Amino acid sequence: MTKQRETWNSHWGMIAAMIGTAIGLGNIWRFPYLCGKYGGATFLIPYIILLFGVAIFAMMCEWVLGRHTKREPLGAFDKIKFPFGRDIGAWGIVGPFFLYSYYIVITSWVLFFVFASFEGLYFGKNTETFFASFLGSKWIFLAHFAAVCITSGILAMGVQKGIERACKIMIPTLFVLLIVVVIRSVTLPGANEGIEFYMRPRWGGLLNIETWVAALGQVFFTLSLGMGAMLLYGSYMKDEWGIPMNAISVTLGNTSASILAGFAIFPAAFALGFGAVIGGAKSIGLTFFVLPKVFEVMPGGHFFGGIFFILLAFGAISSAISIQEPAIAWLKAEVGWSRKEAALFTGIILWIMGLPFLLNGFVKGGLGAKLALLSKMDIIIGQLAIPIFGILAIIAVGYFMGDRGFDEMNKNARVKLSHTWIKFWIKAIVPIFVAILFILTLLKILQENGVIPAIILPAKEIGFTPIGITPMTVFMIIFVCVVFWGGFIYTTAKVLTIEKDKKARVKRGLAHSR
Ligand code: PHE
Repeated sequence: MTKQRETWNSHWGMIAAMIGTAIGLGNIWRFPYLCGKYGGATFLIPYIILLFGVAIFAMMCEWVLGRHTKREPLGAFDKIKFPFGRDIGAWGIVGPFFLYSYYIVITSWVLFFVFASFEGLYFGKNTETFFASFLGSKWIFLAHFAAVCITSGILAMGVQKGIERACKIMIPTLFVLLIVVVIRSVTLPGANEGIEFYMRPRWGGLLNIETWVAALGQVFFTLSLGMGAMLLYGSYMKDEWGIPMNAISVTLGNTSASILAGFAIFPAAFALGFGAVIGGAKSIGLTFFVLPKVFEVMPGGHFFGGIFFILLAFGAISSAISIQEPAIAWLKAEVGWSRKEAALFTGIILWIMGLPFLLNGFVKGGLGAKLALLSKMDIIIGQLAIPIFGILAIIAVGYFMGDRGFDEMNKNARVKLSHTWIKFWIKAIVPIFVAILFILTLLKILQENGVIPAIILPAKEIGFTPIGITPMTVFMIIFVCVVFWGGFIYTTAKVLTIEKDKKARVKRGLAHSR
């Protein structure tokens, strides 16, 4: 007997789930920290190019793979006869464990800051020292345990749909609060420098291959690609929904949040004296000592801070759930375990896998050293593992599904992608582009270790010297705001009217046939 596969009930339900997995720490913690590390606008440019040139297509491909095969990652690659399909698909089950192991540690920081904000624990203190002492305290173990219990509990009870629905309210509210924080941040005396850092491109930095690789990792990370999550969610997608337009809407919506987070953090970081931290060993914790300082200088900071971190916790937990879910889906379907057993088992393993990061923070002195292990893991997963698996989805659709894949992509879509064009892009341009990035990185590593003679010129260090807001800065601000926020509002409205039209037509059809 074949069981009818679960699908999202409504279009809104699907959007909520996609937002749930995509919007999270990747937007508010990872984006600002990487953007800072690689020079603000200098990072933003490769980020935008790779988002629209590569990641959005990878997302469509994961949806195509999921919806066409109606399988979880392991079965999906196998079903389209991808070489070593099951082994590659297995990464979609195992890989997320490594991502979750440190993602949940950062989620536990957020949980602690909910409490710390309402209690006003960091007000009037040096937030950097405050954060470091939290990492060295027993509270981190408690917060981590609580975070693992929350995601495992939600998955055990099978109430994640409820969480996703709650996200429909929580995430828009997070947007509103982010806007409030942005307003406070950009109006601080000295904020200009941060805006300039974030929005004035320093072109020389684009020659640094590391910046591109970091941006490639981030565009995949933020759209929840390369971890089986989007593929699995695609398998619950109804045939009536056009893939291209929805992909644009999710991409723009998700990135709008990241862009806002940048406007919240950089101006405040420069204005409140954290400019020197940006890019250094401690910068991975940037969000967690800049935002508390902003709340401190904000009227009603305790309250706003607390609510902000609650909303962020929602984003983080709904993403963490989607990271833990593929393994549970697999244990249920293929090993025959119950949902509760699978949730408990994965919960225990994931809790153990997080302990090294906690212990590293607990025993080491100095904020940079406390965060070192987590930073390393984030590079391995976020810059290497995620993009590699993400690219495989593109190759699978381009080379192994061929026309079936492109037909699936355009199925019932109002805005169809031309076959010739999309084929060329997915089969040639994207793989070549990504391959060049990886080859250059490899050469650079070999060269740095003295294995091969110097062939790649070292990128010039591009420091940041404030020169005031230039016309180019203003252009970037306008461009980014119009493209991301304007584009998001426009496409989402469009997607929803198409949906309404379709429903109305179906209704009329029914009335006729009666
Ligand atoms: N996109 C999520 C975030 O930005 C993280 C994530 C990555 C979730 C991969 C699922 C899979 O927080």
